[in-house]
Amino acid sequence: VPGREITVTVNGVQRSAWCADRTLLVHFVREQLALPGTHVGCLNGDCGACTVLVDGALVKSCLQLAAAADGAEITTVEGLGEPGNLHPVQEAFWAEDGFQCGFCLPGHLLVTLKLAEQKEDPSEEEIRSALAGNLCRCTGYQSIVAAVRRAVRQPEGA
Ligand code: FES
Repeated sequence: VPGREITVTVNGVQRSAWCADRTLLVHFVREQLALPGTHVGCLNGDCGACTVLVDGALVKSCLQLAAAADGAEITTVEGLGEPGNLHPVQEAFWAEDGFQCGFCLPGHLLVTLKLAEQKEDPSEEEIRSALAGNLCRCTGYQSIVAAVRRAVRQPEGA
């Protein structure tokens, strides 16, 4: 299988690994980098479960080849917080019950992180528009919108 070694900085740590030319970024992150918090849903760009940040931009990692991320900085959900030391965005989702099964959660967290960077006090419409590419089958979105609102209003590290 044709491939290459690529190097990325993932959650602040430089990592190199081999990938086939056709490997999707989502599979590279989950399998080669052993970071399974990024989920595989539709593999079609529709559900947002595979959302990561690549050089600060939201990317559906099922739509990008891993080789195209060579040299990039990637943030996955593992880069946020961990049990006992949650990121403020994770705290907000916890406080507002912003997930049920949790499958969509990694994508929602990264979208919220990005929105918090861009807008101090987004309207409900702006929040819903930011979430438009990330599907949830459990919550009906009300609690997710509340979680995003809580997350963007609290200062980083609060
Ligand atoms: Fe990438 Fe659904 S798995 S958008």
